[in-house]
Amino acid sequence: MSEERTFIAVKPDGVQRGLVSDIIGRFERRGYKLVGLKLVQATKELLAQHYAEHVNKPFYPKMAQFMSSGPIVAMCWEGKNVVKQGRVMLGATNPADSAPGTIRGDFGIDLGRNVCHGSDSVESANREIALWFKPEELINWESNQAKWIY
Ligand code: TYD
Ligand code: MG
Repeated sequence: MSEERTFIAVKPDGVQRGLVSDIIGRFERRGYKLVGLKLVQATKELLAQHYAEHVNKPFYPKMAQFMSSGPIVAMCWEGKNVVKQGRVMLGATNPADSAPGTIRGDFGIDLGRNVCHGSDSVESANREIALWFKPEELINWESNQAKWIY
């Protein structure tokens, strides 16, 4: 399996607001392949590992509280340049700077409630996928659409 993969999550605000199908639909329609999907109630331990780069920052406690306040949809998407393009589809971290047409630009207003997460590099993606998914939860399947997308 050499195709690039990324970790995309719908945060608790996105789940509560019924945005799961829209977000999945955007990645599907773009042509990316879903290889992992589950609903997770994240623990503080999991979040501290996921956000290791942020744990000592002032905003972290409130953010971790929010991220553990309800279910998260954890996904692994596969395809050409999916890490970089996934970030483009999400939009800027602060919805105030996110362009309309992006997920955060279409659905977000506040930095603390920005609806979704996406890995910021191939290295982060591999680390995050391994953290959120067991190997057997990632499915290698052949998409019949692939020959029309590539
Ligand atoms: P970050 O990794 O900088 O953004 P991104 O999600 O785009 O990779 O920050 C992680 C999350 O932390 C971000 O999505 C929202 C939250 N956050 C705050 O609540 N306050 C802040 O000042 C920052 C920088 C982030
Ligand atoms: Mg980040």
